[in-house]
Parts: sequence; C-alpha cells; structure tokens
Amino acid sequence: MRARIIAVANQKGGVGKTTTSVNLAACLAEKRKRVLLVDLDPQANATSGIGVDKQPGRSAYKALIGEGLLETQIISTSVKRLDLVPSELDLAGSEVDVARMDDYLHAFRKSLRSVLAGFRYDYIIVDCPPSLGILTMNALTAADSLLIPIQCEYYALEGLSVISRLVNQLRESGANPGLEIEGIVMTMYDGRTNLAQQVVQEVAKHFGDLVYETIVPRSVRLSEAPSYGQPITEYDGNSTGAVAYRQLAREFIARNKPREDRQAEVESRIGTALENVDIDPVAEPEVPVEPVVEHPLSEDPAPPAATP
Ligand SMILES: Nc1ncnc2c1ncn2[C@@H]1O[C@H](COP(=O)(O)OP(=O)(O)OP(=O)(O)O)[C@@H](O)[C@H]1O
Ligand SMILES: [Mg+2]
Repeated sequence: MRARIIAVANQKGGVGKTTTSVNLAACLAEKRKRVLLVDLDPQANATSGIGVDKQPGRSAYKALIGEGLLETQIISTSVKRLDLVPSELDLAGSEVDVARMDDYLHAFRKSLRSVLAGFRYDYIIVDCPPSLGILTMNALTAADSLLIPIQCEYYALEGLSVISRLVNQLRESGANPGLEIEGIVMTMYDGRTNLAQQVVQEVAKHFGDLVYETIVPRSVRLSEAPSYGQPITEYDGNSTGAVAYRQLAREFIARNKPREDRQAEVESRIGTALENVDIDPVAEPEVPVEPVVEHPLSEDPAPPAATP
C-alpha cells in the first residue's frame, strides 16, 4: 500500500512538534508499522533526538533542489522499522533556493515520488520547522494530512486559526486539494493548572473530534530523552510520556484503519481484476473498416429522381 504522508506542523515554536514526530514515529514502528521520519527542520532536532549525528550534506536539501534522490539520504535508526531522512543546517538554504524554482511548492512532493513507488513504508512523518515558510509549505503540499500539536496554553487557539486558514488556501488553490487534518494533539498538559484544563475544553469545543483523545502530559522524562538520542519508549518505556505516546499511536492507527481497509480493498480488487482479465486481444474480432465514401461537395442537393 502507498505510504500515508503526515506533516507535523504548527508555526508556533516549542509546541511539541519534534517530540510528537519522533515519539509517534517510534511508537508506530513498535506497533510493527514501517515508518520514515523526515526531518525537514534545519534545527535538526528530530535527527539528534533519534540519536543520529548531523553531517554536512546529509539532508533533504539536494533532493529538494532536484540535484539528487531522496532515497540516498535515508538511513536506518536504532529503532527497528524506523528510518530517517536527517537534517542539518544546509537545509536552511532551501528556503531561498527552492523559492527560486518554478514549481517551488511541489519540490518535496516530487522528491518523495520514488520513495513512495518503493512501497517500503506505511507512514512518512514529516517534522516541520516553526514557521510557515517554504519548507513547511512544501511539507503541506506533499502531505495527505496535517497533525497539529498544540501546547495547552492560552495562545494555542490563535495559532490554530492561522494554520487552518493555510490548509484551506492550499486546498482551494489546487496546490493540495486532498489535504486533510489528521488531528490536533494537545501536549505538555499539566493537570494541576486550571488553565490547561480550560484550554483542553475550549479546543474540544471548537474542533470536536479533530482533537485526539490522548493528551500528552508534561513530563521531565520526555524532555530528557532527546539529549540521550532516544525516543521515550527506549529512554524510559514505563514513564507517563511513553504511555501517552503509545496510546497516541494506537489512536492514530485506529483512526486510520477505515481508510486503510478501504484502500486495501480497492487495491485487492484491482489486483484480482488484473489477474482475471479474460479479454483475449488475439481473439478480438477485427472491426471491418468501412470504405470511405467521398461525397461530392455540392451545395445543391441532387434533384429528386423523376417519377415515371
Ligand atoms: N510533553 C512534554 N513534557 C515536557 N517537555 C516537553 C514535552 N514535549 C516537549 N517538551 C520539551 O519542550 C521543548 C519543545 O518541544 P519540541 O522541540 O518538541 O517542540 P517543537 O514544536 O518541535 O519546537 P520547534 O518549534 O523549535 O521546532 C523541548 O525542550 C522538549 O523536550
Ligand atoms: Mg521542532
């Protein structure tokens, strides 16, 4: 089945995009899904967070500007079934270089084509930078859906209205008509504060079932894990953070299941149909070719035959 591409984005900084990308990806891999994590942020936090050293020239940059294949940048990680397209500072250059290209919104989508054709992954999770610049726009143009982490704080809703407007623009302009909102994940929840509880209620009131039931709590272990280059499941598999991200992965899979079942059904029908095609092209009767009758160009119709 073709991989589903999920952009993890929110133009607000520090809301938990990278923490969610890395840990959701790791938990999906733990649940036997084949996952590619693409670090599309020049800060390269997802790269170091999964334990990969930044290296000059190792990022999506070349593929974005059409000078290389994205596959050649894919590396495996310490987590089974989880691969990574790393990032490094050079990727920042694509904000300028991609912007100069004619088809500047579709650069990432094009670079993903050959990866998708390999059918190696179930999910491609793209960690976006904290802006609505060229890299995030490219991720959103390539994505099937957008997952928005928001921090349980007062200004959370403000950021949401900006990004939902952008999704509508991308749909209506035809850049990505099928872009869906995968969901909103509330992060860094501190149940001891009234504010956090009010924000959760407010977001649920406005966005209904777009909001994931799983709420990621504020957890020191989650903030420590990246400095050890480990997802939370490896750093402290029994912590509240690990429990939350495992639950998020379960909910994510459950929400995607009807769509996946539908796609699998269509693909199997196409497969069966192709296997059982009983049209024999040789036995196809030849269609007699009608002789071409030249009609004289005459403006006056022929006079009716005289009746005897
Ligand atoms: N649930 C959590 N509990 C405690 N700390 C967290 C939690 N989620 C994220 N953090 C910490 O908060 C900081 C910001 O998180 P993260 O890097 O995931 O956000 P981001 O949206 O990717 O940031 P940026 O916009 O800079 O890319 C990090 O130091 C991270 O370790
Ligand atoms: Mg980040």
